[in-house]
Amino acid sequence: MSNTDMLTKADILKHLKTENLDVSVFKSVTSTNKILKEMAVKNAREGTVIVALSQTDGHGRYDRKFYSDFGGIYLSVLLRPKLLNFDATLLTSAVAVAVSNAIDEVAKRSTKIKWVNDILLDNKKVCGILCEGGFCGDDSFFVVGIGINACPTKNGLDDQIKDIATTLFNTYSTDILATLCARVIDNLFYEYNHLQNREFLTTYRQKSAVLGKEITVLSMGENIGTAIAVEIDDECRLLVEFENGEKKKLISDEISIKIAN
Ligand code: BTN
Repeated sequence: MSNTDMLTKADILKHLKTENLDVSVFKSVTSTNKILKEMAVKNAREGTVIVALSQTDGHGRYDRKFYSDFGGIYLSVLLRPKLLNFDATLLTSAVAVAVSNAIDEVAKRSTKIKWVNDILLDNKKVCGILCEGGFCGDDSFFVVGIGINACPTKNGLDDQIKDIATTLFNTYSTDILATLCARVIDNLFYEYNHLQNREFLTTYRQKSAVLGKEITVLSMGENIGTAIAVEIDDECRLLVEFENGEKKKLISDEISIKIAN
């Protein structure tokens, strides 16, 4: 089987348990997040899901390029939370739990979560998640974008990321992609519907790749010091202790981290 075999909507629906979703599958798009944000402002409904087999303009946090060749799976889900006190920070972390659990189940592996929402396999990135918010009239919406290095790409991982990223499976299979997609979407809606009870936090902490580790803290990409990651609080902030004893609670909007070797 070659890695341009087309995954179809029917393949995904065969494995999907969540009902009432509007799933579309494309061979190649610019960016599933970009397309879904455009659809959201034109009133697309909650549960609209865009899946792509490749992206020409996939992006991640801080507008970094997200390599999106055939072999990976790239999807975005539209959410329109009704709760006035809906907490987007919790959403991002809960989605990380959803995706990490889905990958573990399908690939029979044990992934970790690097605060705030990178999924690591053997200390290398296997999935990135980008939640973007917007408004449609007075109503807010969230587009949750997930990119998984699922199966090998034709030319292997790009030189820029090959030392820090990895791929989940050794061979290409549309059935693997379909199962993975369905499990990710099902788990995502489970966590979304149970967000307020913060149940996901137990798994989030258990799967943490950073707790107890030495990390480099970056603010807008700039190194602001080395610290130990001490705790993840109930708002998903990361409590760290810097070398000079100073303690800080990091908020993911402003801060990213690197795990020291
Ligand atoms: C990151 O690692 O910073 C987040 C990467 C998020 C990538 C996904 S792929 C599907 C969706 N479309 C995009 O353009 N980005 C997200």
